[in-house]
Amino acid sequence: MDVEGKALKAGGWSSSTPTLASSRKRRKTCCLAVIGTTIGIVILIVILAFTVFKAKRPVTTFDDLSIKDLDFSFDIARLAVRLNVTLDVDVSVKNPNKVGFKYSNSTVILNYRGELVGEAPLLPDKISAGETKHMNLSLTVLADRLLFNTKLYSDVTSGILPFNTYIKLPGKVKILFFNIHATTSSSCDFDIYISNRTISEQRCKYKTKF
Ligand SMILES: *[C@@H]1O[C@H](CO)[C@@H](O)[C@H](O)[C@H]1NC(C)=O
Ligand SMILES: *[C@@H]1O[C@H](CO)[C@@H](O)[C@H](O)[C@H]1NC(C)=O
Ligand SMILES: *[C@@H]1O[C@H](CO)[C@@H](O)[C@H](O)[C@H]1NC(C)=O
Ligand SMILES: *[C@@H]1O[C@H](CO)[C@@H](O)[C@H](O)[C@H]1NC(C)=O
Repeated sequence: MDVEGKALKAGGWSSSTPTLASSRKRRKTCCLAVIGTTIGIVILIVILAFTVFKAKRPVTTFDDLSIKDLDFSFDIARLAVRLNVTLDVDVSVKNPNKVGFKYSNSTVILNYRGELVGEAPLLPDKISAGETKHMNLSLTVLADRLLFNTKLYSDVTSGILPFNTYIKLPGKVKILFFNIHATTSSSCDFDIYISNRTISEQRCKYKTKF
C-alpha cells in the first residue's frame, strides 16, 4: 500500500512535470495564435477601410430646372417690378459608397444677384449604397424680397434674370464602426430668359468635404 502510494506519487510527479511544461508551451502557442489572428484582423480591417470601404464623396447635382410659373408687372410709380417665379427643381444625390449615406435636414436655396430670394426644405433621409436619390422640389421667389432690388428693373427690361441655386447637404457615412462626416454641396448659376420662358445652361460647381 505504502509502496504503491509512493510509486503512484512518483509516477504522478514524473508524468506531471512534462505536462506542465507542454501546457505552458500550448498556452504560449495559443497566445501567439490569438495575437496573430488579432493582428491579421486589424490589418484586414485597415486594408478594407482603405479600399472597398474607403469613404467616397457623395455628389449633389441639379439635374433639371424648369419654369413652372413666371409673371411680372411693372409698378411705374415706384419704378419697381413685381415678379413671381416658381421653379421646378430636380436635385439628385449620388452615394458612391459601399455603405449608406445618412444626411441631416437641409435647404435648397435660390439666390438672385447674391440675395436669398427663395428656399425649399429637405428632410433628413438615407441613401443606400451606390444609389442615386432624386428629389423634386418647388422653389418660389418670395416677391417681397425682390421688390426693392435695384437691379431687377433693368434685368427684367433686358429680359435676362441671373439666378443661382445652392444646396449643402451635411451627412455621414458609417464605415466599420466609424462615422465619417461628409458634406456635399453644389452651386449652379443660370439665367432665366423672360422672352421665351426658358432657362439657360447651368454653370455648376461641386464640392465635398470630409
Ligand atoms: C404674384 O403672386 C401674388 C400672390 O400669389 C399675387 O397676389 C400677385 O398678383 C402676383 N403678381 C403677379 C405679377 O403675377
Ligand atoms: C434642421 O432642423 C433643426 C431642428 O428642426 C433646425 O434647428 C435647423 O435649422 C435645421 N437645419 C437646416 C439646415 O434646415
Ligand atoms: C421627378 O420628376 C421627374 C420628371 O418631372 C420624374 O420623372 C421623377 O419620377 C420625379 N421623381 C420623384 C422622386 O418624384
Ligand atoms: C431663349 O432666348 C434666349 C435669348 O433671348 C436664347 O439665347 C435662347 O436660345 C432661347 N431659347 C430657346 C429654347 O429658344
